[in-house]
Amino acid sequence: MDFLELAQARYSCKKFDGRTVAKEQLEKVLEAGRLAPTAKNNQPQHIYVLQSEESLAKVDQLTPCRYGAPVVLAVAHDTGNVFHYPGDKYDSGAEDAAIVATHLVLGAKAIGLDTCWLNFFDPDKAKELLQLPENEEVTILIDLGYAAEGVRPLANHASRKPLAETVTYC
Ligand SMILES: Cc1cc2nc3c(=O)[nH]c(=O)nc-3n(C[C@H](O)[C@H](O)[C@H](O)COP(=O)(O)O)c2cc1C
Repeated sequence: MDFLELAQARYSCKKFDGRTVAKEQLEKVLEAGRLAPTAKNNQPQHIYVLQSEESLAKVDQLTPCRYGAPVVLAVAHDTGNVFHYPGDKYDSGAEDAAIVATHLVLGAKAIGLDTCWLNFFDPDKAKELLQLPENEEVTILIDLGYAAEGVRPLANHASRKPLAETVTYC
């Protein structure tokens, strides 16, 4: 699969079967995340692999969007280890986490796993429930597992704006 084929093959899976993810597969996905670039190479990410019954029950308290995934990756970042844009109004925390998460979902697809990226949860509640340290915030949850039989991408997966609407050559 070349990169565009991989990007096309990834879709938001909204129904997982019960199969667990082998440790070796999980580690490949995490390695894809590890290779992601971050601002100043600060690597502020902290990924929580939520797979125990107790942890998954916490995810279910946070969001209705687990869809039966056997693993959920909570992509947190260290707010004290981010790049501050000149002007100091913005920082790279959520941005770094998003790049890591993108590597995770594409890395997963490359080895036959499916994912769904989630932000339908309250980050403050997640921080409390997952007992994150004071300096961490979590802005992304990723369902990870194997799509249930017959699951197909939703229709909007094939609906992307033409480049002419999203790109300006200056
Ligand atoms: C930042 C972000 C947040 C998302 N949050 C959710 C979510 O909370 N629940 C959900 O079911 N899907 C969520 N999605 C999935 C999107 O709805 C989906 O990516 C989009 O509709 C395009 O479909 P595709 O991923 O199958 O191509 C999210 C995706 C992104 C990128």
